[in-house]
Amino acid sequence: MKTAKVIVDRDFQVSRIDKRIYGSFIEHLGRAVYEGIYQPGSKFADEEGFRKDTLELVRELNVPIVRYPGGNFVSGYRWEDGVGPKENRPARLEPAWSVVETNEVGLGEFSNWADKAGTQVMMAVNLGTRGIQEAADLLEYCNLDKGTRMSELRKQHGREKPYGFKLWCLGNEMDGPWQIGHKTAREYGRLADETAKLMKTIDPSIELVVCGSSGSGMPTFGQWEATVLDECYDSVDYVSMHTYYADHEHDTRTFLASSEDMDRFITDVCAACDYVKAKKHSNKTINISFDEWNVWYHSAQQDRKLPKWVRAPHQLEDVYDFQDALLVGSMLITLLRHADRVKVACLAQLVNVIAPIMTSDTGAWRQTIYYPYLLTGKYGQGIVLQTLVDGPTYETEKFGTARCVDCVAVYNDEADEIVVFAVNKDIDEPIALNLELRQFDGYEVGEQVVMVCDDLYAVNTEEDPGRVVPQCRTGSAVHNGHLEAVLEKASWNLFRLRRAGMDN
Ligand code: AHR
Repeated sequence: MKTAKVIVDRDFQVSRIDKRIYGSFIEHLGRAVYEGIYQPGSKFADEEGFRKDTLELVRELNVPIVRYPGGNFVSGYRWEDGVGPKENRPARLEPAWSVVETNEVGLGEFSNWADKAGTQVMMAVNLGTRGIQEAADLLEYCNLDKGTRMSELRKQHGREKPYGFKLWCLGNEMDGPWQIGHKTAREYGRLADETAKLMKTIDPSIELVVCGSSGSGMPTFGQWEATVLDECYDSVDYVSMHTYYADHEHDTRTFLASSEDMDRFITDVCAACDYVKAKKHSNKTINISFDEWNVWYHSAQQDRKLPKWVRAPHQLEDVYDFQDALLVGSMLITLLRHADRVKVACLAQLVNVIAPIMTSDTGAWRQTIYYPYLLTGKYGQGIVLQTLVDGPTYETEKFGTARCVDCVAVYNDEADEIVVFAVNKDIDEPIALNLELRQFDGYEVGEQVVMVCDDLYAVNTEEDPGRVVPQCRTGSAVHNGHLEAVLEKASWNLFRLRRAGMDN
């Protein structure tokens, strides 16, 4: 059997994990808001019309932050449409996704939902069709206490206390020609800078995310980041990254290698940020908000056939299979490995739209990708350790050399627990894992969890929601300071190591 040798050392640390790395995203798109989180009249609705079954799953995921309200949607959005009495709210053509937006849910309802879900809101402003003044008004409405036009308007709308949103996106994917109000890097950089300065004058406690490229394949990638940051380096805190992967060719090996691309993408964006830092002789470091990432392709064909200008159609309803769960697990490992620079990340999205959670009139269920997201968020807390892997690799035309075993170790210092995540991308053979634990004496395996499946394309459906689920395993052990385990072929793995003699 091939072996992956891994070394970790208690002293060689990457960074403490920012909990916001396990965030998600809800856009006014398809059935994410309407029928996903909000469905008055449904048997699942609570007194405010929120679906209790969705809330239960979001709470189980313990999502720390949810980006809202878009996405492409935000670039044509008038936030004022979604506040105040519902009967006065207009229905509008929503050109980003060619639908009708009824505005039954706006920022107030979403904030109430977020409170119930136990999560924070990451708010986005429209820098497509709108600009500095509307962004400032929105911030004043949300975060100012009292005594000004916008803060008093919020009170009139029934919300006494400010919402106090702390993290804001300066638009969405402004480099993309598909974006409403698309701009050149220079145009956007200037607008972002002026908007950021005014927003921070109004509320200096906020943090701001400026739009990076909407993918590493964009022709302007690299230069976009350098130019935009050249304009607004001093006034923003994070640059955004987005990526989605697909398996159009039905080639699992290549598909699973996509996380190598994500890894390089992060390194390249950090290099662009640091280039501007050097150029400006700055002491400030711009970090990453990876605020859209996932697998997205299953729904592409059926979406082309959807009717236009209707409310809440079944858009982007990808049904995820087992290999998608493997890649999502690997993408989470990639984010963790870069925890020194990636401080926020959002699995796109959360409900019904390219999402871990699906709903219908008869219930809510967990897609395959739900589980690596759940378990990495739950146990991937504390400090990421430098994880040196010396193991087998394979070649792909699209992404070059890929590691067969993708692995990261985390030390949860609060729980005194070492947690190891590993994906075996070899779809034919198991691989032995031999992980040397330096300066961690006396630990033993407390729990071993695996996701495996005899069919790479198996899915969870409403009728059969338990087809692809994690399973507990035994068989791994710590011998002479080495974790020894067998990673089954095509598997996602979690090991929790505790001091010998400690209970669960
Ligand atoms: O998440 C779906 C869409 O993908 C978002 O609206 C957009 O930002 C990205 O292109």
